[in-house]
Amino acid sequence: MSSPRDGVPCGRYEWRVRPWIHDAVLYQVYPRSFCDADGDGIGDLAGIAARLDHLAWLGVDALWMSPIFPSPLADGGYDASDYLSVHPELGTVEDLAALVDTAGRRGMRVLLDLVPNHTSVAHRWFQRSRSEVDGPYRRYYTWAPGAADGGPPNNWRSRFGGPAWTRDGHGGEWYLHSFLAQQPDLDWRHEPVRREFEAITRHWFEIGIAGFRLDVCYGLVRDPLLRDNPPARPGDPPEWVRLGQRLTGNLNQPDAHPILARWRRLADGFEPPRMLLGEVAGPYFGTPEAPELHLALGFPFRSIAFDADEIRATIERVEAQTPSHAQPAWELSNHDEARVCTRWGAGDVRVARAALVLQMTLHGTPCLYYGDELGMTDVTVPAERARDRARLHDRRPPRDPARTPMRWSGGPGRGFTRPAMAGATWLPLGDGTDVAAQRADPRSTLHLTRALIALRRRRAEELVWGPQELLDGPEGVLCYRRGRATLIAVNTTPEPAAVQGWRGPLVIGSDPDRRGGADGALLLRGHEAAVIAAAE
Ligand code: GLC
Repeated sequence: MSSPRDGVPCGRYEWRVRPWIHDAVLYQVYPRSFCDADGDGIGDLAGIAARLDHLAWLGVDALWMSPIFPSPLADGGYDASDYLSVHPELGTVEDLAALVDTAGRRGMRVLLDLVPNHTSVAHRWFQRSRSEVDGPYRRYYTWAPGAADGGPPNNWRSRFGGPAWTRDGHGGEWYLHSFLAQQPDLDWRHEPVRREFEAITRHWFEIGIAGFRLDVCYGLVRDPLLRDNPPARPGDPPEWVRLGQRLTGNLNQPDAHPILARWRRLADGFEPPRMLLGEVAGPYFGTPEAPELHLALGFPFRSIAFDADEIRATIERVEAQTPSHAQPAWELSNHDEARVCTRWGAGDVRVARAALVLQMTLHGTPCLYYGDELGMTDVTVPAERARDRARLHDRRPPRDPARTPMRWSGGPGRGFTRPAMAGATWLPLGDGTDVAAQRADPRSTLHLTRALIALRRRRAEELVWGPQELLDGPEGVLCYRRGRATLIAVNTTPEPAAVQGWRGPLVIGSDPDRRGGADGALLLRGHEAAVIAAAE
């Protein structure tokens, strides 16, 4: 894989020093749902390794896997009880090393999802922190005495509902947890915690992990005075409104930046340099001299509609927040939200296909969620099979429907597991489309996704490294130019629309029936996106 960092020009025209992740296409795997090699109904690392051909065929450069560490699964693995090994249901460290090796031979890199904000209560650090009030692990977490009225130390709310504090018998103090009570927050102001994660980071980088997605890394430090959060106001982010308070005391503290800059120095010290992607809300890129994250996986499309004005405003906001030594990352779905075909399309695959055109032609790194290359919809999960214990606690709909197994083929087990396990997979398989059926159909969403990824590579000068200009267009149609001559129009309405003044052949379109390009006007069907090579 070439990157300017290795001294290879980017897009043939530029010699800018850029990390490889800036011209990559990423792919997020939910490990329990990709492929089950050992036949227990749960996906595993050996299964992922067995399916790398699919990713290579698709043309992705790297995969990142949601957490694979041992965990009691109170929050689907985002509650690790050990950061140095692998959950036995998913395999072993040897399986991971084999996966990294097999991926590497196919030119793909592997990134892990690391959760530095909190551990599981089952982690030995917390076990000792709660029981040894004067011991060395006490300060790994935030403990505070209760308020005068006997309640928690302050008004902070957990993002999974209820107070962000739980009283623990072993010392009478309360510990902080921004998420579930089973997920106590680490105290990153405490140097030994930083050193623990340095060792964890080195450990994985040394076995060839190409980087991390750092979960909730904009929450690593909190107001040291533990002051109450102010009430939410209309127009605040939806989560603040839901919780009734602005999370100003526990998120986006300035002291998080030097922590990430130090992490980045560590990552840059490896050869080749390792990548840091962060789940953030806001800019965490530092400066060219003291860089922080390579990419922000903030999922900016998370709570907007498939609407040209909203998408445009989101692109403008994200671009304005992104300094020139960094670039945005674009996700259409992830493990926390409904899939794009369901969320934006209400099941209409035309919307999912148009969204893929958008994702693969925007300035920034696309991050494809497994199954989105098929236009997969959410799967109905009956209440008795729900697994997302965190959301059940919260009394919000579980996130399971977007985490169901990948369907590889027809027949019982759908190529995800052994036929005999078809009814006993960890989440239901659901009906509908699969990889084999779509591979056989050149008009499929799978072929479209592959063609878009190939196009991105072929026209990298424009689609990866070229400037981006948002253009005026008819109502409901998002129009933009990449580079000098690549025009993209995404019709977010169900009605036909005409983009006037465009002329040039079709490069690719979301509608398999489209033939022509633009001849003074680009005529789009409802929910259609097209890429045009502008005539000089
Ligand atoms: C991140 C993860 C989410 C998890 C939360 C708490 O937002 O994406 O799945 O529940 O962190 O760890």
